[in-house]
Amino acid sequence: MAFDIDMIKGVYTNMAARVDKAREIVGKPLTLSEKILYSHLWDGTPSKAFIRGKDYVDFAPDRIACQDATAQMALLQFMQAGKAKVAVPTTVHCDHLIQAKEGAAKDLKHANNVSSEVFNFLESVSNKYGIGFWKPGAGIIHQVVLENYAFPGGMMIGTDSHTVNAGGLGMLAIGVGGADAVDVMAGMAWELKFPKLIGVKLTGKLSGWTAPKDVILKVAEILTVKGGTGAIVEYFGPGATSMSCTGKGTICNMGAEIGATTSTFGYDDSMERYLRSTDREDVADAANKIRKYLTADDEVYVNPEAYFDQVIEINLSELGPLLNGPFTPDLSTEVGESMTKKAKENDWPIKVEWGLIGSCTNSSYEDLSRASSIAQQALDKNLKTKAEFGINPGSEQVRYTAERDGILEVFEKLDAKIFTNACGPCIGQWARYSDPKNAPKNSIVHSFNRNFAKRADGNPNTHAFVASPELTAAIAIAGRLDFNPLKDKLINENGEEVMLDEPTGWELPPKGFEVKDNGYLEPEADGSHVQVEVKEDSERLQLLTPFEPIGDSITGAKLLIKAFGKCTTDHISMAGPWLRYRGHLDNISNNTLIGAVNAFNQKTNFVKNQLTGEYGGVPDVQRAYKKAGIKTVVVGDHNYGEGSSREHAAMQPRHLGVAAVIVKSFARIHETNLKKQGMLGLTFDNESDYDLILEDDTFNFLDLNEFAPNKPLTLEVVHADGSKDVITLNHTYNEAQIAWYKEGSALNLIKKQNA
Ligand code: F3S
Repeated sequence: MAFDIDMIKGVYTNMAARVDKAREIVGKPLTLSEKILYSHLWDGTPSKAFIRGKDYVDFAPDRIACQDATAQMALLQFMQAGKAKVAVPTTVHCDHLIQAKEGAAKDLKHANNVSSEVFNFLESVSNKYGIGFWKPGAGIIHQVVLENYAFPGGMMIGTDSHTVNAGGLGMLAIGVGGADAVDVMAGMAWELKFPKLIGVKLTGKLSGWTAPKDVILKVAEILTVKGGTGAIVEYFGPGATSMSCTGKGTICNMGAEIGATTSTFGYDDSMERYLRSTDREDVADAANKIRKYLTADDEVYVNPEAYFDQVIEINLSELGPLLNGPFTPDLSTEVGESMTKKAKENDWPIKVEWGLIGSCTNSSYEDLSRASSIAQQALDKNLKTKAEFGINPGSEQVRYTAERDGILEVFEKLDAKIFTNACGPCIGQWARYSDPKNAPKNSIVHSFNRNFAKRADGNPNTHAFVASPELTAAIAIAGRLDFNPLKDKLINENGEEVMLDEPTGWELPPKGFEVKDNGYLEPEADGSHVQVEVKEDSERLQLLTPFEPIGDSITGAKLLIKAFGKCTTDHISMAGPWLRYRGHLDNISNNTLIGAVNAFNQKTNFVKNQLTGEYGGVPDVQRAYKKAGIKTVVVGDHNYGEGSSREHAAMQPRHLGVAAVIVKSFARIHETNLKKQGMLGLTFDNESDYDLILEDDTFNFLDLNEFAPNKPLTLEVVHADGSKDVITLNHTYNEAQIAWYKEGSALNLIKKQNA
């Protein structure tokens, strides 16, 4: 069963009563985002109004989706919870670990060879615990979710930033770290700061060369990469309803690029059409019955300034095609002359070498059909394409249907590489160069979402520009960054001047979607007999063992590192080549804090081992302390642990034996992750006490046996000369979180409660 209609009907049954109650409590008409938030409270019917941007609220999401890179540690942790099945419908999608090189057939075979261990692990864990499994080649997580699981008014979380794509079908879908997903899988609530709301009113209508992608490229230009932080972006207005459902998905997808918590659209006819064409008549029927609850209240649309924290208006009739980049998705340039000028001023290579169409952002049937209408013109008008084409269809269903309808053949006639239905070049899984670090300066255009340096091909000199699929196709044909298809002529192989006509395409396949094998594996009803195998000598996977409680007495602890300045989750657990070890806690722990700057010598990965007096790498020194049975403390500056919600940044220090992290202030998600792993995450009561900490210090916690909510802890800092400082440390642990600490981790506690 691809989706659970009974679950969806259950959500809709509750929704009406909960939304009505919320409206009464809030005392004014509600936006769509508020309707979905208030109807998914962990405690059920709303009993109080929440303050946006301030209150932390427990929610009960309807679904979870995980991709193959992040699912490994999430599922390894879930296995610790002692549950027979996941508590809410969950799917795993194998899409990140497939390289794009020669084309789908060979590349998929290669991926199945080199990552078979990971894929087999994910498949067997999914089968055991009732998780739907999408095999490598089945598609990109967010396209598959949109086609199969997203539903108007629903709430989902996913272990990938672009989970937000499902807003195209009227959901609140939010990217989270593995630890949050595990909580929900294990039957716990999911906590989120009640978001602020940004309303985007779309008037007019898209036409000609302008596509939904240009809407979000424009929004990115207006709000910049940080403008959506902590907010849900809600789109509405006649321009919104006139767009296709997958086009809305594109807009929501790139909400991640402006830092938004998520983005969404109200339920409309385009969503109904999409639901019906993707074999979900019953979801469409159910949604139609509560249609007014699946959009904002009418008053909100009349006077949006009264209901949103910020309102932006964009007239789609006046919007032109944009090209954003390089190196940041919010740097917008209109096609044509302004690009000629900007490229010259900034020394961006005008010649375009590749046009890539795909990624979770723009790989729908509509996207491929509109881009192919441009590609077809190259054939019809005898144009030689100047750049190479690479295509990643979003799902096997899209690929199969596009092949049936002759869409892929058009690209193939232009010698395009049809890569696997997977992320490929979008996540650096593109074997473009043998030595990317020393590869030449060049420009590429793609329809993806992210264009940071090295993102696509590992080459820091690749200037990647983001555009709609149809503009990507046109620019690839012209081979110039500043090609303006509305005005510029091209010279064909006969020496004649020709122009490209406006793109055309189909919102949905006229003959319907079709697929032979969509790549989905339904888990067994009772998976209790399924063995999950992880080889003892595996480099990439390691079963977890429960953490031992740190206990209520920490004395004689040594300083591991006093981190200076910024210390993000990337400094604590680096990405890049370490991604390979995401499922092997001991191996990935060899990158613990190697990016943090040691406050005593301003060097990275160079700290004093107090046992020997020698200096060494952080993981090595920490392993020496662990071997000697000595607990350690990490000290940090402000906003420690900012960045991603990666749980590895908490699990690794915990695994290596760090007992406490003491900082001036925490990034909240990291602080919570430390708590979940049964560690102490504490803050200096007096910030300047950070300066008291010296390289050879030893720490004694004086009252940890009285650990209680709202009661600071006292720390004795013993310096090498025997002098002492006694300082106060604050914490934000509540009763439940102290219970996590006492049990060794949140999962240990869940397991105990299940026993
Ligand atoms: Fe994959 Fe790129 Fe989307 S990595 S999930 S296609 S953002």
